Amino acid sequence: MNKFEKVPEGVFNKVEHNKQEFINKFIDDLEGLFPETVKDGIVDFQALLDRFGEYEESNKIEKYNMTWVGKRQAIKEADKDIVGRTLKYVEEDSKNPETTENIYIEGDNLEVLKLLRQSYYGKIKMIYIDPPYNTGKGEFVYKDYFTLSKEIYDKLSGNVDKYGERLVKSNKDSGRYHSNWLNMMYPRLKVARDLLTDDGVIFISIDDNEVHNLRKICDEIFGEENLLLQQTINKSSQIATEFTVNMHEYILVYCKNIVQFELGNDYKYTISRGTVGNEDQTTPKIKFPKGLSCYGIKDGIYKETRKIEGSKENIYNYDNIVVKNGKLGKDVVLQARWRSSNDMRNFFDNNCKPTRAKINGVIEEIYFENDRFVPQIKKRIKKKINSVNFNNKRGSKYLEELELNIFDNPKDMEVIKKIIRRSSYKDSIILDFFSGSATTAHAVMDLNAEDGGNRKYIMVQLPEPTDEKSEAHKAGYKNICEIGKERIRRAGDKIKEELKEKYNSANEEERKSMKNPEDLDIGFKVFKVEDTNLKRIKDTVKEGISMEEHKAISPKDNKDFNPHFTDIDVVYEMMLKRQDIDLNEEIILLDDIGERTYLVGYTMLICLEEEVTEEMVEKIGSLDVDLSWIIMRDSAFGNNINLKLNTVNKLRTIVKENHRKEQKIYWI
Ligand SMILES: C[S@@+](CC[C@H](N)C(=O)[O-])C[C@H]1O[C@@H](n2cnc3c(N)ncnc32)[C@H](O)[C@@H]1O
Repeated sequence: MNKFEKVPEGVFNKVEHNKQEFINKFIDDLEGLFPETVKDGIVDFQALLDRFGEYEESNKIEKYNMTWVGKRQAIKEADKDIVGRTLKYVEEDSKNPETTENIYIEGDNLEVLKLLRQSYYGKIKMIYIDPPYNTGKGEFVYKDYFTLSKEIYDKLSGNVDKYGERLVKSNKDSGRYHSNWLNMMYPRLKVARDLLTDDGVIFISIDDNEVHNLRKICDEIFGEENLLLQQTINKSSQIATEFTVNMHEYILVYCKNIVQFELGNDYKYTISRGTVGNEDQTTPKIKFPKGLSCYGIKDGIYKETRKIEGSKENIYNYDNIVVKNGKLGKDVVLQARWRSSNDMRNFFDNNCKPTRAKINGVIEEIYFENDRFVPQIKKRIKKKINSVNFNNKRGSKYLEELELNIFDNPKDMEVIKKIIRRSSYKDSIILDFFSGSATTAHAVMDLNAEDGGNRKYIMVQLPEPTDEKSEAHKAGYKNICEIGKERIRRAGDKIKEELKEKYNSANEEERKSMKNPEDLDIGFKVFKVEDTNLKRIKDTVKEGISMEEHKAISPKDNKDFNPHFTDIDVVYEMMLKRQDIDLNEEIILLDDIGERTYLVGYTMLICLEEEVTEEMVEKIGSLDVDLSWIIMRDSAFGNNINLKLNTVNKLRTIVKENHRKEQKIYWI
């Protein structure tokens, strides 16, 4: 099936291994906009060309564009399906796996992002990444130079012909230098965009080595109009050259869609006067309702407000103003040059309950403060993201506190906390796919402890080996994932201990607004990128696996699955193929049906039994859950097509009787 065809409805649906369900959504969108370009669910590329042919002609001549060696390949790379790879759950490395909703994934982030693209499509509110800056230095624990080899660069750029003869004089290496970094970043950002929610946002740390290039590719991938901000952030250590002192780096901030972007729930209060001194302002009358607070004003009847000579902000009253028990005793009409007359009226019309203001925030209260009776407007507004951030400290301080100061240039956890707080909600999923020492995971846990949130994180990190001479290696950390996981373990314990101390010394009232330490999620499930468990896709005998190991599993399992598979591995592999199921869904073994039948997220049933009996079919069909997927093994029916058909029909009939819906069944 080609990638631009919709999945057909039918009985014998194989579980697609490279099918991205969301492609259907693209096709629907395209069909909605240009109906002539989609026929029977299949994209008609000729019709598309016909539709846009004219644009293409006129654009061919010259266009504003950024290009580099390997760009076409980088674009293709993002859309290339990922075949034969999956995520394997590693229980022994996980912490509190039964309860946690945090995830740590070991592997190349492009593969991981593609594997997550189905389950996490449009689910991530905030991504923070701190990719290697391409400083050209080789002294870090991780690689920070991306120069293409001269031979490859020359070949790709057409600098040499096919016989290796040089065609163009090569006098500058900067192309090689930037191209490889861009080739690395482009597809990753493109896939990452798919994971963002419609109101989501990505923050990317970067410095002068690549900021100009990064901005150009982000303009292309996210759209120039979706650039929220280029934040300047002070370097934690300044770099002096002969002529300059370099004190800043940057964080680029792009929204998935700037129109739908929402700030996080990080609030502050502002109080502004309800009058202005602008001569041109009109002077409407507004009725202020009984009950408004009058702070610092004695009870009594005021015939008129106190005026300041020459002030444009004096208030005129037409009735007496009655103040009783510190509140306005009756409605009163006042006239002045009001600052936000509509906002005030809306608030009063809304019975003085919190009311959305026209420009920004929510009006919480309007009150008088003294006998001038200038109304004060108290607003709750969301804290915004500033274009400059001065408070960047050395991130190694936090690793030092955990006695784990063995990673180069970790980010300042407080900076990461701040951007998470300002850009995500308390239950959002936060993703960092260049996780390094896992500062972002640390920040998420710390923030949850601080404000009672339930944010969850997904960390992705390549198991890049540490240099044998490095402190990390000497301390026993053979790759960067080992450092990251250990940091999360230690940081989680420390945060929970500190929260417990605070909680225990707080009184009942204070506890109400605090996170109960027992509810703080300091665990994480570990997954590793591995070859698929399914033989149908990768049926070669893996290197290093003896024939004995193959024989150790049953002939049917041997036919269907790769050695070392477990049922849970297969279950997770199936979960990655569903858009409505993520890796935190509950997995239940249905042991009254068989020994290998699993229910996932109360919506997907995976039956790995080697044989399926009538009784099992009866029980599956009668389950009291609304199943949207049933997955079975082809091999459970041998070559008996009739048996398979009968089973499918029976199952569908029972489900229809019980749930009044058509049931699709998928096969592995
Ligand atoms: C600059 S560091 C991130 C540091 C992190 N922000 C911190 O505070 O610890 C970049 C990290 O990205 C990792 N990395 C580089 N290429 C990667 C890839 N293809 N997949 C996953 N991780 C990668 C490197 O190993 C390195 O640990």
